[in-house]
Amino acid sequence: MNQMRLLAIVLLAGCFPGGGLLDTPAAEPSPRIAAALKTAQDAAQPERDRVNAVRRLGRGDYDTVSATLFQLLAPAQPDPLRIEAVRALEELAQPRAVAPLLHGWTNCSAPIKQQVLHSLTSHRELAGEFVAQLERGTLPLAEVDAGARQRLAVFPDEAIAAKAAKIFERQPYLDARAALQRFRPALALKGDAARGKEVFKERTCVNCHRIGDEGHFVGADLFTIKDMARDELLQQIVAPNLFFMPTFQAFVAETPDGELLEGVVAGTTETTVTIRQALGIDRVFNKTSLKRLKGLNVSLMPEGLLEGLAPQQVADLLEFIRSLRGF
Ligand code: HEC
Repeated sequence: MNQMRLLAIVLLAGCFPGGGLLDTPAAEPSPRIAAALKTAQDAAQPERDRVNAVRRLGRGDYDTVSATLFQLLAPAQPDPLRIEAVRALEELAQPRAVAPLLHGWTNCSAPIKQQVLHSLTSHRELAGEFVAQLERGTLPLAEVDAGARQRLAVFPDEAIAAKAAKIFERQPYLDARAALQRFRPALALKGDAARGKEVFKERTCVNCHRIGDEGHFVGADLFTIKDMARDELLQQIVAPNLFFMPTFQAFVAETPDGELLEGVVAGTTETTVTIRQALGIDRVFNKTSLKRLKGLNVSLMPEGLLEGLAPQQVADLLEFIRSLRGF
């Protein structure tokens, strides 16, 4: 089979093909990893256990676990599992995972795309290969959101940052105002708050906005948006970077051991700084120990989270957020 045909099959297979086509045969796993592989693939297990198992795979050996991780990216799997699989692949930090993560991309839902972009621009080993793939045109540049561009622009490896700057010089990010126009038809529809709650969970809003006792408090408190008009609310969600508050500016920190973290600065003392990441994870560092701390010119709230939703689903989401007022 020639390569073009193989690629065509891979692309037609939808959002992410199975890993079998892409990876070398698996090596013998350790008992701990074997158990995690089993749980991760077992649809009869509770989703939470499967997600935790996938997280453990991120500490396994690439050749042993990658085929399974790519299989877990299939559209039939629940989104939380797929997102965790992307994170695990990020943790494994193998440049050869980048191309398969980008192939089949077009059919992925927005939260998966968001995680892939985030992972590929937050890790040294992956960002170099990601930029090389962008140069090769593997991904339409318009798909790369402002957050990913900013992370590359301030990337600690200057060669990567320079290459990225050159690539994006050629094409600016899709106009936020144009995106807003596309979602505007939702404003004419009547929304259903109960269905909107599902959209809110599905589109990962709960990673940063707490609703009752669900979710994490990273972003703004949505209960306080008392009288926001629906069109303004829509704008805040579709185009978070048009106006954002400095409190919620995203920062990238490079830790003493070279790890890159993104979050808001949740607090500082004379000697420490606290970085709050999505999922409400706080990390406290000694100011002098951080290799660098750089502000991004974007909100921590990602762009593009509504992509692919029908106008009715967007109307439901708006209705759900507005219904929160009553609490
Ligand atoms: C990675 C974290 C993150 C995710 C995921 C996220 N948000 Fe946000 N959100 C924020 C932050 C941070 C702000 C503060 C915005 C700013 O001014 O930059 C915010 C602001 C908002 C606001 C404006 C609030 C105000 O007071 O002006 C709305 C509305 C909102 N988000 C809705 C959503 C919805 C709906 C989703 C899911 C589709 C979502 N957010 C997903 C972090 C997030």
